[in-house]
Amino acid sequence: MALLRPVFLRSIWRSVQRGGGGKAPIIAGHKLLYRCNLECAMCPFWRREDENLLTVEEEIRMMDSLVRAGVSFLGFEGGEPLLRRDLPEILAESHRRFHTSVVTNGWLLRNRIDDIAPYLDLLFVSLDGIGELHDRLRGIPRSFEKAVEGIRAARGRVPVAISSTITSENMDDAEKIVTLAQRLGVRVTFQVAYNYSTAGSLAPAGQHLKQTLERLLVLKEQGAPIIESREYFASVINSWFRGVPWRCKPWLTMNVDPQGRIVLPCYTLREYGGSEYVWDVDIRQLWNTFNWAPYEGCNKCALACYLEPSLFTWTNPTMIRERIIDPIVAYIDSSVTPELPAT
Ligand SMILES: C[S@@+](CC[C@H](N)C(=O)[O-])C[C@H]1O[C@@H](n2cnc3c(N)ncnc32)[C@H](O)[C@@H]1O
Ligand code: SF4
Ligand code: SF4
Repeated sequence: MALLRPVFLRSIWRSVQRGGGGKAPIIAGHKLLYRCNLECAMCPFWRREDENLLTVEEEIRMMDSLVRAGVSFLGFEGGEPLLRRDLPEILAESHRRFHTSVVTNGWLLRNRIDDIAPYLDLLFVSLDGIGELHDRLRGIPRSFEKAVEGIRAARGRVPVAISSTITSENMDDAEKIVTLAQRLGVRVTFQVAYNYSTAGSLAPAGQHLKQTLERLLVLKEQGAPIIESREYFASVINSWFRGVPWRCKPWLTMNVDPQGRIVLPCYTLREYGGSEYVWDVDIRQLWNTFNWAPYEGCNKCALACYLEPSLFTWTNPTMIRERIIDPIVAYIDSSVTPELPAT
């Protein structure tokens, strides 16, 4: 329990600091690089050239700006974050300041887990299908085997969740991914692929997507270890298939590109193109002068990092249990949940 205190008490303290009205980011995402060792069909990032990446000192400068803005949760991704040799130093600095997570394709995880485990509050490993389907979507043979090997190496050391991106190619494997997560004793998070202009158009649509989301909602209600809330699935189904919109609050989530520039208004609409350097601006002032109004009715993406904080309300007891209490339980459970034998 001592381990929990800094993370959760700090989040409560920052929310007090953020108080007094006005808009402020709570969650931040940061791409450490665009380079990657895989070539996923739906992903635009590995196709981009990296400019000069931030040094560890510049990463710290960025983190201190985020602290001043009131951010509590920092997630690192890319490209493939485990390709950065200085990742443990960066994570150590982040862990002192934020609830810290990493999203990885898992290929290098078995060899790097010892270096990064002490600084992680949550580790996401991407899996988009079982076996050959995952390899085909990820563009490189043995990707599935390496990701599962990485999950096995990491589970029990840090809280692990499978991160699965639903595309037009893999909807029939969504339930199998849930079963795999249960067998491995980890949680699972789903996101719906977005059609970036410079990647394969694999965004799912139509009745097949609706049925897939409805099935995941049923599994969630039956107790499957799916991280997204019921409200998440219900909101996507309602907005895309019943014309009932949810209100997007993109100001709750902030993204910073590999050069330290803020991505406004959100990850998807700007295709991760940054503008102002995070340390050059007063984030709280920018957040409260930026015109967010045109984006509140957007509903174009289903990225959980925007949708979940947008939906959160302190008046819904289920949400409080799922977002506050369940993560604490998962935190404690992560060291003891056994892997089930294959059936
Ligand atoms: C861009 S990757 C970076 C981290 C790491 N390379 C990985 O694959 O986990 C982060 C997440 O974005 C997902 N992703 C890739 N292309 C996407 C798309 N077009 N729409 C939504 N998510 C996507 C990936 O599946 C992965 O779970
Ligand atoms: S999704 Fe991740 S692993 Fe796949 S190409 Fe993009 S950055 Fe690399
Ligand atoms: S719904 Fe629209 S404004 Fe909100 S995060 Fe997605 S793309 Fe951005």
